[in-house]
Amino acid sequence: MRPLSFTAVSSLALIRSFAAGLTVPSSEAQIERTRCSVSAQVHKELVSLLSSNATILGPSDANWANETERYMQNVKPQVCLSVRPGSEDDVAKIVRFANQHDIPFYAVSRGHALTSSVGRFKGIEIDLRNLKAVHINPGNATAHFQGGAYSYEVINTLWEQGYVTGNLCSTATGGCECVSVLGPALGGGHGLQQGQHGLTSDHFVNLNVVLANGTAIQVNETSHPDLLSKIWPDNFKKYFVKTYQFAGSSLEPLIKAIDKFQGNGTLAPPWLATFGLYTMNTTLSQTEATISWVFLYDGAQEDAEPALKPFDDLGPLSVDEVNVPYSVINDYVGGSIDGWLCEPNKTHIIGTAGLQTFNVTAMRAIYDLYNHKVVQHPQLGDTRVLVEGYSVQGVLSFPSDDSAYPLRDDYILTYFDTRFDTTDDPLIDFAAEWRDQTVALWNGGQPGRKPTTYVNYAAGYESLEARYGYEPWRLERLRDLKRQYDPDNRFAWYNPIVPRHTENY
Ligand SMILES: *[C@@H]1O[C@H](CO)[C@@H](O)[C@H](O)[C@H]1NC(C)=O
Ligand SMILES: *[C@@H]1O[C@H](CO)[C@@H](O)[C@H](O)[C@H]1NC(C)=O
Ligand SMILES: *[C@@H]1O[C@H](CO)[C@@H](O)[C@H](O)[C@H]1NC(C)=O
Ligand SMILES: *[C@@H]1O[C@H](CO)[C@@H](O)[C@H](O)[C@H]1NC(C)=O
Ligand SMILES: *[C@@H]1O[C@H](CO)[C@@H](O)[C@H](O)[C@H]1NC(C)=O
Ligand SMILES: *[C@@H]1O[C@H](CO)[C@@H](O)[C@H](O)[C@H]1NC(C)=O
Ligand SMILES: *[C@@H]1O[C@H](CO)[C@@H](O)[C@H](O)[C@H]1NC(C)=O
Ligand SMILES: *[C@@H]1O[C@H](CO)[C@@H](O)[C@H](O)[C@H]1NC(C)=O
Ligand SMILES: *[C@@H]1O[C@H](CO)[C@@H](O)[C@H](O)[C@H]1NC(C)=O
Repeated sequence: MRPLSFTAVSSLALIRSFAAGLTVPSSEAQIERTRCSVSAQVHKELVSLLSSNATILGPSDANWANETERYMQNVKPQVCLSVRPGSEDDVAKIVRFANQHDIPFYAVSRGHALTSSVGRFKGIEIDLRNLKAVHINPGNATAHFQGGAYSYEVINTLWEQGYVTGNLCSTATGGCECVSVLGPALGGGHGLQQGQHGLTSDHFVNLNVVLANGTAIQVNETSHPDLLSKIWPDNFKKYFVKTYQFAGSSLEPLIKAIDKFQGNGTLAPPWLATFGLYTMNTTLSQTEATISWVFLYDGAQEDAEPALKPFDDLGPLSVDEVNVPYSVINDYVGGSIDGWLCEPNKTHIIGTAGLQTFNVTAMRAIYDLYNHKVVQHPQLGDTRVLVEGYSVQGVLSFPSDDSAYPLRDDYILTYFDTRFDTTDDPLIDFAAEWRDQTVALWNGGQPGRKPTTYVNYAAGYESLEARYGYEPWRLERLRDLKRQYDPDNRFAWYNPIVPRHTENY
């Protein structure tokens, strides 16, 4: 076992408080009283502690709405004060200060957390967006990313120098390029390099961590992973991306062909991923959802083509093919920095299920349900039902009990997303019911497997076991670490084991 690679990280990392998952073993939620108005005196005291580049904003500042804008409009932490550290040292100082004043704190790298639990937070936000340095370490095998570095910068900085790294993108989590590197990594970190290299978290080498009590430590193989992550030379080669659009009448042969192509966790690593999507594409049909399927291949088009022949033969409505550098692949899966998936400040009704193989009956039922719902409310035609099939050999090359990531045998991630412009749209309940029905169909398509939830896609209502693993030792071990490192449950906001509530008064 590599005892400290991920479990410890997750228990310790301040950043995005994955540690929140690790909580004191009490079935009673803690009820907390918090003041949200931070006095001018407290504000001044904090300024004097921090580096000159740190900035502190409060609700009366003109730019407040922008400063605290998030991906999810309907899941918002209540931020009383937003502090942007100017240096890494500032992070520990802010934590100690918050503890002294008995004010909860919550670290944010890009503000993309999806889970409802973050909505219980009220206190000081530690906004890491100025800590975004990315550099390649001597020896060219690892790179250093600060906690606020986000995928767009990381991908492009490394690519310019001839490298790729993991966690390029998790299409569903609100895009690819706009999310941080660290946030998804704390929950595992699926991405296009995982078939060859494993999850992002499998490659932490060293983390600079601030504990709940404000003590800064390093977490690595020899000490309790600045996010050091392994990188791989890429010689500026081209990747092949082919996107098909199919009509509903092709569903059965299509899903059978996809299932055969993908196998049961056996997709060969040069196939980075295949993503399927049901959505209305009014340029193709006004009356039924279009099924689009994108195939991403690490290599030359002529090497990929034979395996795609079955899909060509199905009579797609349209086909697009491009040969592009790694740095722009995201444009073809909707995750570019200015793409649909990155748009902030929307209300999302989301749901997910982890699968191993595709069930044609379930995929048909989900498709028919989609059309049925959109006939009732055509304005929901923007709803996306996504399936993400990854290559998993790299993921399976790490033992399952090596880390806190419990779902190495989920080979397909699914994601339902309906979005609205406001939090009070009258169709929100309708969308939530549709979401529940879709998730139930995915799970019903795999009799004998328990429901699982990739923690980064969790909406917050799922069971702890679905998120953290059904083997009893997993939650026990996380709780032990929690007792040791965060006895006061200060990292309690991101998918926590025992929730902490902040009471309004
Ligand atoms: C503050 O920011 C400036 C400009 O970004 C930078 O040159 C300087 O090194 C920073 N100072 C500290 C103490 O981080
Ligand atoms: C908020 O951000 C938007 C887009 O970045 C910008 O157009 C707007 O001017 C900003 N508002 C303020 C008050 O800075
Ligand atoms: C987010 O959306 C809401 C509702 O449309 C709007 O009132 C608010 O100004 C938006 N926030 C920002 C920062 O644009
Ligand atoms: C690392 O990469 C740089 C730039 O490509 C190169 O100049 C240097 O020799 C490499 N160092 C090692 C140790 O491979
Ligand atoms: C691991 O942490 C220790 C203690 O802080 C430090 O001395 C060592 O350099 C770190 N190792 C790596 C690979 O960063
Ligand atoms: C997929 O493989 C797993 C073992 O890894 C097995 O338990 C499961 O039954 C297989 N599913 C199908 C549909 O073959
Ligand atoms: C709709 O289909 C066209 C091809 O006919 C494609 O270019 C476009 O990306 C599709 N839109 C969506 C949202 O998938
Ligand atoms: C496929 O899903 C249906 C329910 O939609 C279920 O009855 C059937 O057993 C599943 N088939 C397999 C092979 O799991
Ligand atoms: C901070 O927490 C760690 C882990 O629980 C503990 O080892 C350390 O002694 C604490 N430091 C202080 C100053 O209390």
